[in-house]
Amino acid sequence: MAWLVKFQSENNKRRKRRVSVGPVCKDGAGLYHVSVQGALFIVFLAFCLGMIIRTDKLLLNTRSLFVGQNHKTAGQKALEWWKTSIIYQIYPRSFMDSIGDGIGDLKGITTKLDYLKDLNVGVIWLSPFFESPMADFGYDLSNQTRVDPIFGTMEDFEILLKTAHAKGMKVILDYIPNHTSDQHPWFIESRKGNSSNPYYDYYVWKDGVVNINKTRSPPNNWRSFFSGSAWQFDENREQYYFHQYLPQQPDLNWRNPKVREEMEGVMRFWLDKGVDGFRVDAIQTLFEVEDVSLNEPRSFKPNVTEEEHDYVRHIYTQNQDETHDVIRSWRQLLEEYELKDGKKRFMVVEVYDEDISQVIKFYQSGADMAFYFDLLFLNRTCGGKCIQAIVNKLLDHLPEGKWPNFVLGNHDNPRIASKMGLEFVNALNTLLLLLPGTPTTYYGEEIGLENIELSYDDTQDPFGRFYGPERYREVSRDPVRSPMQWNHSYQSGFTTASKPWLPIHPMYTVLNVESQSRAKSPSHLKLYRQLAVLREEAAFELGSFEYVLVNDNIFSFVRRVDGQPAYFVAINFGHSVAMEDFRSGADATEGEVVFTTGNFQHHIYEVGQELELENIVLNPGQGIVMRLKNPGLR
Ligand code: NOJ
Repeated sequence: MAWLVKFQSENNKRRKRRVSVGPVCKDGAGLYHVSVQGALFIVFLAFCLGMIIRTDKLLLNTRSLFVGQNHKTAGQKALEWWKTSIIYQIYPRSFMDSIGDGIGDLKGITTKLDYLKDLNVGVIWLSPFFESPMADFGYDLSNQTRVDPIFGTMEDFEILLKTAHAKGMKVILDYIPNHTSDQHPWFIESRKGNSSNPYYDYYVWKDGVVNINKTRSPPNNWRSFFSGSAWQFDENREQYYFHQYLPQQPDLNWRNPKVREEMEGVMRFWLDKGVDGFRVDAIQTLFEVEDVSLNEPRSFKPNVTEEEHDYVRHIYTQNQDETHDVIRSWRQLLEEYELKDGKKRFMVVEVYDEDISQVIKFYQSGADMAFYFDLLFLNRTCGGKCIQAIVNKLLDHLPEGKWPNFVLGNHDNPRIASKMGLEFVNALNTLLLLLPGTPTTYYGEEIGLENIELSYDDTQDPFGRFYGPERYREVSRDPVRSPMQWNHSYQSGFTTASKPWLPIHPMYTVLNVESQSRAKSPSHLKLYRQLAVLREEAAFELGSFEYVLVNDNIFSFVRRVDGQPAYFVAINFGHSVAMEDFRSGADATEGEVVFTTGNFQHHIYEVGQELELENIVLNPGQGIVMRLKNPGLR
């Protein structure tokens, strides 16, 4: 319903809209004395009235997006932890090295739990630390239930988990169902090619095509994410196996019930250890159609070579319906645990899809959340309106009772601070932490960590290496995985090794946790902490979300809940200074400043200051949060 989306996205004009309906009808009144025209006018009037009623109904819908389902009144149960917490993603190789080998580890993470607690983080998501040959840095598992010695021991993990729990934080793990490493014992057995071997059908094996000249080709044109054919010939088995990612990451055959059972066993193993849930990796690629004679159609995307993943449309290799049966079965499994002890087990799935309906399907089949990634692709051309379109895309499609989420970065995508510039870091964190739903922060975003620069020779990421020296920069994920910057000392306090696995960003003397904690003036970190506390206010946790004024610069909204203070948030994401009157949109005339991003040059507004909503001036990258005085009732 495009019109509805459009309407809601223009909700910021709601006051103007009401005013504008009036004058149009009034103009019509001039025709009243002419009978035919008079009749027409009456029809027109009825239409206008209908529109007003409809308009209000739609506005009401927008407003009640959260109020309806989550309205907390005195005595009602509080929201579940995964709805109120910040999820903080740790890439273990890069967080903290406790033994001086240049690679982060579990013990290192444990030493930083107080830091996370202090940040008001409620959920820690640990990227893989399981046994792996590290072809894809831990997303290629040779054993899903062992800790890779690089990261420490199972005991280290247990201590980490226990300590996090003792501090009131939840821990979720990466769960990687689509593939294993080619060094996994299942694959080693499977490639032996003996049909009586129990592992024979654990992976997706197919015969190739024999050409007229007796040469052999892969079964079809399916491409791997890392470029090239997604089929690899195995000399021993004399068949091709399918790999959505690296050849070292063969895809599991989810049509084999034994595979499902084994992988359920993996979930149970970690749930028995006490983890609070999972982030499910690459869920869209779990199944591909069985008929491998089906070639995928060309995408005709510009500047994409035949070798690249995007050369074709992935209609046979992604988003297959069977995936949702599996999600349902995992939900059942998690509920089985919940029934035992009454504790929630959380599941969030990784879904990249321009088509929002594909994201929503996962919400419907049993995931608590599907990561909504559209904010990852923000850049400096995206002002208030563009951000509004991104936010609305999710909110307008989210089914009743489902919970939104927003993400600014992860280990696969360029850092947001590099794309938007350091002057937007505070604005972005304000957006992320005060929008409705659950925010996910990728380690370092709280201090404004930026991408590092790397030569091809130093490139570690297989994706970058695949693309070669000319093009590695387009795809390499190394720049976003550099070590966390703890202080301004040697190697930024990340390691004592002379060479960390990836270089530390040269800005570490300024951009580091210690300096930003101690800074007298506002720092990214200090402001992040303030926001993390502010978002615990009822209005932010479960209040309604209403746009106030949105234009090419400004993105502004009010969060409110009955009987609690209402908050007004305005951020300038544009290129020029904005001076706006927010009174009518906010249904209030004044408030108290409770947070400001500052702009590190001119501190126009101070926390604690009483401020009129008329003529608020915001520089690009600057945002303000106000507790409203006498907000109008709606
Ligand atoms: C998605 C992960 O986020 C990415 O890092 C990895 O390379 C692929 N899945 C393959 O596991």
